[in-house]
Amino acid sequence: MRIKGDIRPPGDKSITHRSLIIGSLAHGETLIIRPLRSKDILSTVNAVQRLGIDVNTNNEEIWKVHGGRTREPDDVIDAGNSGTTARLITGVLASIEGVSIITGDSSLKKRPMARIIEPLTLMGASIMARGGRFLPLAVKGNRLKGVSYSTKVASAQVKSAILLAGLAAEGITEVIEPAKSRDHTERMLTYLGASLKIDGNRVVLKGQQRLSGREIHIPSDPSSSAFPAVWAAATDGSELIIRDICINPTRIGFIDVLKRMGADIKIVNTRYSSGEKIGDMVVKGRRLRSTVMEGVEIPGIIDEIPILSVAAAFADGETIIRDAGELRVKETDRIAAVVEGLKALGGNVDAMEEGMIIKGPMRLHSGNVKTFGDHRIAMAFYILSKVADIDINLDDMECVDVSYPGFFKAMEALSD
Ligand code: S3P
Repeated sequence: MRIKGDIRPPGDKSITHRSLIIGSLAHGETLIIRPLRSKDILSTVNAVQRLGIDVNTNNEEIWKVHGGRTREPDDVIDAGNSGTTARLITGVLASIEGVSIITGDSSLKKRPMARIIEPLTLMGASIMARGGRFLPLAVKGNRLKGVSYSTKVASAQVKSAILLAGLAAEGITEVIEPAKSRDHTERMLTYLGASLKIDGNRVVLKGQQRLSGREIHIPSDPSSSAFPAVWAAATDGSELIIRDICINPTRIGFIDVLKRMGADIKIVNTRYSSGEKIGDMVVKGRRLRSTVMEGVEIPGIIDEIPILSVAAAFADGETIIRDAGELRVKETDRIAAVVEGLKALGGNVDAMEEGMIIKGPMRLHSGNVKTFGDHRIAMAFYILSKVADIDINLDDMECVDVSYPGFFKAMEALSD
């Protein structure tokens, strides 16, 4: 089935989380224009409210955060399904006097937290964790000292947790990553008045800088845009315009991958908004060919690999994905989930420890697919059903609400 028309996907999840958290730390009012209202974001709204921050979300289009002094939370903070909430808020809790407890749903309780516990402890926080490395965490905030820390994985959540703790710390905090992860935290701190030094994969921040609240416009989420984009790119005769997408270079690796696969994609009308680059994306359908995704490219496409695997299923040849072990610790093990789903539909695919081999073009049949409660797995297989013109029964459709409420309706409206 083809897709045709014009779409403005919901606001960016990473930037909406940060506007709430960093807005809470800024003096005065931050206005969040066109926020993403999704389950993950509501977890962050609740978290900052627990810290005594006044957040008004009554108006769908403009949220208001009255930033300033955070205090010991009045109850347990529940991050739900959201790794970004859990990890970034823990960076803030590290300097809040008193005891904070943070937990999450059954998926988040399985995800690794040692990656933030280690640097935040080095900075002076006291953190206890279930089994030494899982939620719930009990954080005793302390006066922090800046550190120089080299992360083992390229993770924007880890980098951001350290930078947010570093903002409250005495002295200089430096984070060095093995590859560059998304840089929205750095951009937003700068936009709200902090001065940071950025040199490749290294970020340096002086502690105790003052931030001032401002208007933050939220662009369309490139990760959400990738689903209709792949549908359009992989079906002959499709033509789609996706409006106001964040085209921050750390987020649009999937466009480079799709172009390598032969896709017809153009970015037009580029401009800057609230410290981020945005543009419109024009996609036309064509036959795709296989590619290799590996190395330093992986952090920039990590959330898009499920939907890029769908593109690969229709491409001519063998697509290889390597160096993507981080997929195993996302909302679910996304290597296992993609491989199991493709196999259930008759696809030819092999899992590797840190990746997969996808043998296209696949001749797929209708069937049942398990989402493992993961929004991106659900959306990827829904798109696959449209491109392949088969019926797929997903065991959980509601999970898309963590990042893209209204996804199915929006996609049906564009079906041609
Ligand atoms: C995010 C960072 C990424 C990404 C996640 C959102 C963020 O995780 O997968 O969906 O907003 O910082 P890691 O930083 O753990 O790779």
